[in-house]
Amino acid sequence: MGDTTKQVPFVKGLEGVAVAISSISHIDGKAGRLIYRGFSVEELAQYSNFEEVAFLLWHGKLPTDFELTDFKRKLARERSLSSEISQLLRLLPASSHPMDVLRTAVSAMGVLYRRCDGSGFSLIEDAISILSKIPTVLAAFEAARNNRPPVLPSAELDHAANFLYMLHGKLPEEKVARVFDAILILHAEQEMNASTFAATVTASTLSDIFSAITSAIGTLKGPIHGGASERVIEMLDEIGDPANVETFIEEKMSAGKRIMGFGHRIYKTYDPRAVVLKSMAKELVKSDPGRKRLEVALKLEEVVVERLGEKGIYPNVDFYSGIVYSELGIPKDFFTAIFAMARCAGWAAHIMEYTESNRIFRPRAIYEGSTDLRYLEEKAKARCE
Ligand code: ACO
Repeated sequence: MGDTTKQVPFVKGLEGVAVAISSISHIDGKAGRLIYRGFSVEELAQYSNFEEVAFLLWHGKLPTDFELTDFKRKLARERSLSSEISQLLRLLPASSHPMDVLRTAVSAMGVLYRRCDGSGFSLIEDAISILSKIPTVLAAFEAARNNRPPVLPSAELDHAANFLYMLHGKLPEEKVARVFDAILILHAEQEMNASTFAATVTASTLSDIFSAITSAIGTLKGPIHGGASERVIEMLDEIGDPANVETFIEEKMSAGKRIMGFGHRIYKTYDPRAVVLKSMAKELVKSDPGRKRLEVALKLEEVVVERLGEKGIYPNVDFYSGIVYSELGIPKDFFTAIFAMARCAGWAAHIMEYTESNRIFRPRAIYEGSTDLRYLEEKAKARCE
């Protein structure tokens, strides 16, 4: 058998391999810089709002005032869930992880709400539907698992404020809504990471956007991708006090284990999003557990950077985000789902861009197994084992 895969380059984890040409975002991993469509993420977090950033990512330009108002109106109009999805959320066990709930709900939404099926509706209309409904799904699940009726979405509020309103059943303070809006901006896009790649691979088969985003949610969930933020809070609580940090790191390192919230395939210095989230955490923390976690986190950062900074190990986006979310009254198991709520904007942007000049992803695997086995002989051997 002629094995052509022997000549195929093999790069474990696709490190250093580009799989798309994109003008959506760019990371300078050495300088710790992230830009969306040319704008630094710090500036967007400071001056823009989530809806404007989603428009920017999808259309490649800042909206006019009219376009932004129209886009916000379209998003607000799509927030409500049909009775089928509301019922599904009540049927899922209260113990379900919100990321499993979200993955299931977006998949079911594909059955119920899909419009881009060749009948004249565009991909962007399905993207608006998914982006708008994710916050409603999460808030409705939080209500269902606490045996409360869901708080219906408000068309008067912006995306970020509306989510906090539905989650907590009361209007958020303006400052809190603004912080949450900035968090969504920080998490909205990040070039070709694992979940974006998963979305793009699914979309490259010309499958629908609900399927592609379902793939992305399943990928983001993993503890070494978006799932790390939840693990960080557990780790900070386990350490408990800054005085325990040195011993904790010593034990982890001698066991060859990773420290959650540190390290990144591309950033080899401070992740710029972690820098913003750290200053948010410092400004926001008021609760006792929050103060303690922040003290532990600051000490952990100091020791890890001192010991592993040379290797390019610095805090990533997931390190300080959980402290901020907790101060905003967001349950710990919601952290990764909040990430998904924001990243849906970036996933959709990549799905739109890639499928514009699509080529199906079809890599190879280098085969190392047997090639000449005979079934009857092997079956006889297997029977005797
Ligand atoms: N703690 C300690 N050491 C680490 C860490 C860490 N968190 N991350 C990487 N390293 C070390 C590795 O042990 C390795 O050391 P070695 O060269 O001596 O063997 C070196 O840094 C390079 O590590 P790789 O495994 O090659 O890094 P990779 O790019 O494959 O992994 C990843 C990146 C998965 C993010 C990794 O840093 C990690 O597991 N971090 C912890 C989980 C986490 O915080 N994930 C969130 C990332 S941000 C996001 O996805 C949203």
